[in-house]
Amino acid sequence: MKQEISFIPREELKAKPDTASLGFGKYFSDYMFEMDYHNDLGWHNPRITPYEPLTLDPSAMVFHYGQAIFEGMKAYKTPDGSVQLFRPEKNMKRFNESCDRLCIPQIDEEFLLEGIKQLITTEKEWVPDGEGTSLYIRPFIFSTEAYLGVRPANQYKLLVILSPSGAYYGSQLSPVKIYVEEQYVRAVIGGVGHVKTAGNYAASLKAQKKADAGGYAQILWLDAKENKYVEEVGSMNIFFKINGEVVTPKLNGSILPGVTRDSVIELLKYWNIPVREERISIEEVFAAHKRGELEEVFGAGTAAVISPVGELTWKDQSITINDNQIGQLSQDIYNELTGIQLGKKEDPFNWTV
Ligand code: COI
Repeated sequence: MKQEISFIPREELKAKPDTASLGFGKYFSDYMFEMDYHNDLGWHNPRITPYEPLTLDPSAMVFHYGQAIFEGMKAYKTPDGSVQLFRPEKNMKRFNESCDRLCIPQIDEEFLLEGIKQLITTEKEWVPDGEGTSLYIRPFIFSTEAYLGVRPANQYKLLVILSPSGAYYGSQLSPVKIYVEEQYVRAVIGGVGHVKTAGNYAASLKAQKKADAGGYAQILWLDAKENKYVEEVGSMNIFFKINGEVVTPKLNGSILPGVTRDSVIELLKYWNIPVREERISIEEVFAAHKRGELEEVFGAGTAAVISPVGELTWKDQSITINDNQIGQLSQDIYNELTGIQLGKKEDPFNWTV
């Protein structure tokens, strides 16, 4: 039986930020979706409630053992003023995969999506419509049980918060400098790299800090075992265009199965551009550059959509890709995906909801 989602009104609404200076993840809307889990009750008490600070027990297990997972998705304002989501069922499915890996009880995907839709309907005034803007949606779950023994918690909280956002990296589509990291790894096979758990992002910070200090925008992550095969770029999946063909690392258990990654692959197939999901080593990437065949490199993720790579540094070698310009394919994919997301282009895939 589906539960009723209750509504708890707030006394005063907040002032909305200026669309021109949104940045990413800085502002939050008036309401959030909230639901609790208790072993005896299951997921219960779904509600749309004022966005406000939480009270948690200092011994809440999340602070100690890190059972915390999240998702990232966006709502877009279309030219006719309606609001749409992009492949939200894929985020719901991945959310449950993250639950499974972190021993968090499964959620009802359809019900949560309904809750998100109700929240966005309540907050539709918060969906920005400026160039490159959207309403970033952040569902997350963490353990709340007050206990210090190491085991899966018996109590959790699920929240969905909304953040009107602009471009993730400050400007749309500008090629970035990337550092190939060999000292630190993002994830290991058998670990948690294939799901969206908070610890993956905490574990990436040290290398990111090192990259920042060297003047690089992001890390290119290599596999943990051989330090050889390309995995991800920053918090995004990565694509290489080599001699007319596109290659992206095959999902191997330590790579996050990105919704944008999947959409790029589908789009390339639809355009009849050869695309392969396979292991690719950093040597192969540099060798392709040497042969003059490395045409484009780009990251793909929900937050930035497409992020072209202009320069790659590995050991002491730096290569410039496509003269540090936005590649034609990167631009085309960006235009097509954002066009579909914003309802400005036809959606032959039925991705929008
Ligand atoms: C994305 O590319 O959507 C990400 O995963 C970044 C997010 C953690 C802000």
